[in-house]
Amino acid sequence: MPELARSMDYVLSGGGKRLRPALLFLCAEVNPDHFKDQNLLLPAAFALEAIHTYSLVHDDLPAMDNDDLRRGRPTCHVAFSEWEAILAGDALNTLAFETLASLDAAAELRLDLIRMLAGSAGHQGMVAGQALDLFYEKNHLSPTEELLYRIHRKKTGALFAAAAGMGALFRACPEGQVSQFFSIGMQLGQLFQWVDDLLDATSTSEDLGKTIGKDAKAGKLSAPLLMGLARAEAHVRTEEKNLQKAVEQLPVSPRFLPLWRELPSFLGNRLR
Ligand code: IPE
Ligand code: IPE
Ligand code: MG
Ligand code: MG
Ligand code: MG
Repeated sequence: MPELARSMDYVLSGGGKRLRPALLFLCAEVNPDHFKDQNLLLPAAFALEAIHTYSLVHDDLPAMDNDDLRRGRPTCHVAFSEWEAILAGDALNTLAFETLASLDAAAELRLDLIRMLAGSAGHQGMVAGQALDLFYEKNHLSPTEELLYRIHRKKTGALFAAAAGMGALFRACPEGQVSQFFSIGMQLGQLFQWVDDLLDATSTSEDLGKTIGKDAKAGKLSAPLLMGLARAEAHVRTEEKNLQKAVEQLPVSPRFLPLWRELPSFLGNRLR
């Protein structure tokens, strides 16, 4: 549909850090020299990025966070219109599952990937987190640690968890190991969102490519709101250490261990 292609192209070509695809590749342990493995993973990486991008397009809409800057450019509804942003998001959401269903892989693997991504993106995952985030903001609820963790786990942790779990599914890990990767993905996503909350309060629009100071202005429940900047930053350091211990327990090949060891501080270092 050319009418929709403009806004879909715009958001997909807008860059971004591509962290969820990177996590998928890391957990799948593909050898960068094996192009055949990469070719199987790329569509799955696209599916993750399509869900993530749709979540950002909708997150920025006037009815949600009402943002006009994303990845250093006008948000989709500003560059185009609200209807084009809503429909681009809808189309990316379904395209993700169409892509996984069409993978050149065994039916069982495709089904497992679809189940994992749908469970993490939907009403018990990312969408649930977005609903909680906005419900808190619109109803002026009392901030609690329990609620902040729930919001972070669902709106961001869930998709990181899916990226890691899907990577483990690709290399046919036993179920227990897939859960281990899913859990570490969840923890990494929570740390990432914690840092995102802090950067919203301390960084610049030029560095982040998005509006800053918007969480406080909207009255959102965020890490700095709950415990102040200093304690929230201290929490990041503690979590980095916890994750450093946790990665040592992962069933990963020795050649990927150095990357795993760097990952927690790579995420935390965005603050420095
Ligand atoms: C932004 O995610 C939304 C959050 C979950 C905090 P990213 O910071 O990964 O966004 P891009 O893809 O790099 O733009
Ligand atoms: C967004 O969280 C999470 C999702 C899009 C699922 P934020 O609202 O904090 O993300 P930014 O700060 O706008 O990127
Ligand atoms: Mg939001
Ligand atoms: Mg937002
Ligand atoms: Mg944010």
